[in-house]
Amino acid sequence: MSSDAKDRVAIVTGASSGIGLAFARAWVARGGRVALVARTRAALDALVRELGSERAKAFPLDVRDLGTLEQLPRMVVEELGRLDVIVNNAGLNHRGAIEKYEPRQLADIVTTNLTAPIVLTRAALPHIASGGSIVQVSSIAGMVPVPGEATYSASKAGLRAFARAVARDLEERNVHVGCVCPGPVDTGFLGDLSEVPDIVLSQPMISAEEVAAGILRCIDERIDELALPRQSGRLATMAYLLPDFAKRIQPALEKRGARNRQAILARRRSVS
Ligand SMILES: NC(=O)c1ccc[n+]([C@@H]2O[C@H](COP(=O)([O-])OP(=O)(O)OC[C@H]3O[C@@H](n4cnc5c(N)ncnc54)[C@H](OP(=O)(O)O)[C@@H]3O)[C@@H](O)[C@H]2O)c1
Repeated sequence: MSSDAKDRVAIVTGASSGIGLAFARAWVARGGRVALVARTRAALDALVRELGSERAKAFPLDVRDLGTLEQLPRMVVEELGRLDVIVNNAGLNHRGAIEKYEPRQLADIVTTNLTAPIVLTRAALPHIASGGSIVQVSSIAGMVPVPGEATYSASKAGLRAFARAVARDLEERNVHVGCVCPGPVDTGFLGDLSEVPDIVLSQPMISAEEVAAGILRCIDERIDELALPRQSGRLATMAYLLPDFAKRIQPALEKRGARNRQAILARRRSVS
């Protein structure tokens, strides 16, 4: 399927900011239409005004509300006439030791990042057009476990495993499933940079627009898995396969991450 095909409809979760917002803009710029999903209704309404109500429609919901999420593909087809693409992008992270968090908060990470994409993928099947595409937004943290983000890493590794397995299951239906695994992305998701592990910041920071372009490529070229940047994905795979090697290079990567943090903070100070 070519993503510049006119009027194709994409559901984008987490469309109120960051990567989801950038993808929604890019999809509409190619002539598509979008069903925008997030909890913040005002941000979705503003995006509908920006993109035009003939191209974009808001579906404000919390993806943890699995009953409502299950109805979403049907509602989108009723309102927009068809469904071609889903970008499962809404995400949640809590950093630090797991005892800092209530069990409910940890479970929320798994529900948002893993259960919701599984439920939405399943719910789409009776509705998504043949040739359609479902992209799961995982993370480099799903390719190699990141200490300090254990639950997040687990949820993203689970999402990656789901994507790869269900991709084979859905081949017969001609539905493509891809997985995009970004390293650090310059969005509000990173929060307070002082809490982001050095090892995460050791990898080059990319923009939400670059990830959106990667998602489009994943759809256009029916790619199984795309790490962004590719070099970070290669390093993560080596670290996962060779844990002793990972331990050996960890101090050097952490040093680089600490330096990168200072550079990012200095850059932010100079533009503010
Ligand atoms: N930024 C990074 O460094 C990075 C790196 C690798 C992977 N990722 C992944 O990329 C995805 C997007 O992140 P981002 O960087 O674009 O972050 P972001 O700007 O914080 O966006 C997160 C989006 O998810 C939505 N969301 C969160 N919880 C939700 C819920 N329960 N129901 C509905 N929507 C919900 C948020 O909207 P509301 O708050 O309005 O609901 C927001 O639109 C996430 O899955 C993240 O794990 C990010």
